[in-house]
Formats: sequence, structure tokens, C-alpha cells
Amino acid sequence: MEYKKNQIVKGDVFKHLKKIDFKFDLIISDPPYNQINEKWDIFKSEKEFFDFTFAWIDLAIEKLSENGQIYIFNNQYNSIKIANYLLTKGLKFQNWIVWNKKDGFSVSKKKFVSNQEVILFFSKSEKFKFNYDEIRIPYESLERIEHANKKGILKNGKRWFPNPNGKMCTDVWEFSSERHNKKVNGKVVKMLHPTPKPEKLIERIILASSDENDLILDLFAGTGTTSFIAKKYNRQYIAIEKENNYVSIIKERLK
Ligand SMILES: C[S@@+](CC[C@H](N)C(=O)[O-])C[C@H]1O[C@@H](n2cnc3c(N)ncnc32)[C@H](O)[C@@H]1O
Repeated sequence: MEYKKNQIVKGDVFKHLKKIDFKFDLIISDPPYNQINEKWDIFKSEKEFFDFTFAWIDLAIEKLSENGQIYIFNNQYNSIKIANYLLTKGLKFQNWIVWNKKDGFSVSKKKFVSNQEVILFFSKSEKFKFNYDEIRIPYESLERIEHANKKGILKNGKRWFPNPNGKMCTDVWEFSSERHNKKVNGKVVKMLHPTPKPEKLIERIILASSDENDLILDLFAGTGTTSFIAKKYNRQYIAIEKENNYVSIIKERLK
């Protein structure tokens, strides 16, 4: 099979990633979590899950360009081990992003309800781009900002004036999950895919960590949210997803 930019590759990540002869500027990976009751998310044991996880990470690192960046979704427990593995592989830690998805459910009454997922942000080297101006978010304290707009606020002997586009983005992100957004009268409804990521969340990653024409790998693509946003912002992409019905969704979405 010949691989091209802006392609949806149907099949197994291991089979294809080994053969793809491109280096990626940005990899966004939303892999199995070993957590939900879907055939692609069920592993016989924790060991089998981490063997799988570390094996795809090894392949992904090989395909990351020298100034490349990688974002990996998972739950907190798995992210502890994944972050540690990435460090042993020499990748550079940038952020542990907490995604408050506003959609927690209690698995135990002996601990806090988990409302978050983790997005690990690592880079191959310290030489990487980060477009912080593209992802500013509105200030919260409007009263203080109104005051600062008029006279500025004295900071270390200099007058600071608020940026009209808002403040710099922090590592705690607030986006309702798609599962939560699609609820009808508070009830969860079945979606075409169980865990699509919010477009606005993926948009933030792509705008911050890539420029036009950069090549993005949409690894474990699901419904192709990453590829869809990449195309919207004139980035190039390759999506890899093994389930036929999800591949059909990606194709339809990218038309
Ligand atoms: C968490 S979902 C990704 C959802 C996606 N971010 C979205 O917005 O729709 C993980 C996806 O990985 C796919 N998958 C799991 N194991 C795979 C493998 N070995 N090769 C290719 N795809 C795989 C599953 O079919 C599933 O759609």
C-alpha cells in the first residue's frame, strides 16, 4: 500500500505505522484506555494493555520529527505509567493537561468522583513551536480587567495592559464531553462512537502545536475529529483507524 498525505488508512495501527514513511510534526493519539466495554478497549490483563500501549508508543516516537510534539489522551492511572515510559524514552515533558469533561460518574463511594481525563503533552526536543497567541482564552475577572484596560497594572516597575484576545491558556481545560453534550433530558444516548473528542478541544491542540501545511498523525482516529480539524485549518493529516464503521464516519465527515 502506498501512503499519501491527507489519507484515511483503514486497518491496524501496528501494521501501518511501521510502513508509513513520513515524519510527523504533531501526533495526537486517543488510544484505548482499557476501561470501557467495547471490543477495541478490552484487554485480558493490565500487562497486556501496557505491552500494547508501550509498543504503539515506540512506533509513534520513531515517526515523530525532530521538532515534533505528541499529545496522548488517557485516564489518570494509565497516564502515570505512560508519562514515565515517555521519560525513559527521552521525550521532553511539557504539560500534564487536566481535561475537566464535566461528566464524571462514581465508581466507588470511597473516593472522589473522577471528572477528568489527562492529556499528556511531550516533545521530541526542546526546539518546538507553540503558538500561545492562537489559543488565548477570555479573562475571568472582568472588573479587574476593566480597571487594567484604563490605567494598566503596575508589575515589576512596568505597566501591564490586558491582551484584547484574553489570557494565556492554562493546563486545566474545560470542555463538556460529547457524551454529556448529547444527553437528552439528562439521559445518556447512544452515539455512533462511544468516545469522540470535542472539536474545540482538538482545535486548541492543533492551533497551539502546528502551523499550516504541517503533517499531523491522527492515531486511533475513531470518528476522525483530529483529521477534520486539521483539514479545517489547512494542516495535512493521516488518520489510522481499524473499525470499518468508524472509517465510514471519517470519510463522510471529511467530504
Ligand atoms: C478512544 S477512540 C478514538 C476517538 C476519536 N478521538 C474521536 O474523536 O472520534 C479509539 C479508537 O481506536 C481504535 N483502535 C483501537 N485499537 C486499534 C488498532 N490496533 N489499530 C487501529 N485502530 C484501533 C478504535 O476502533 C477506536 O475507534
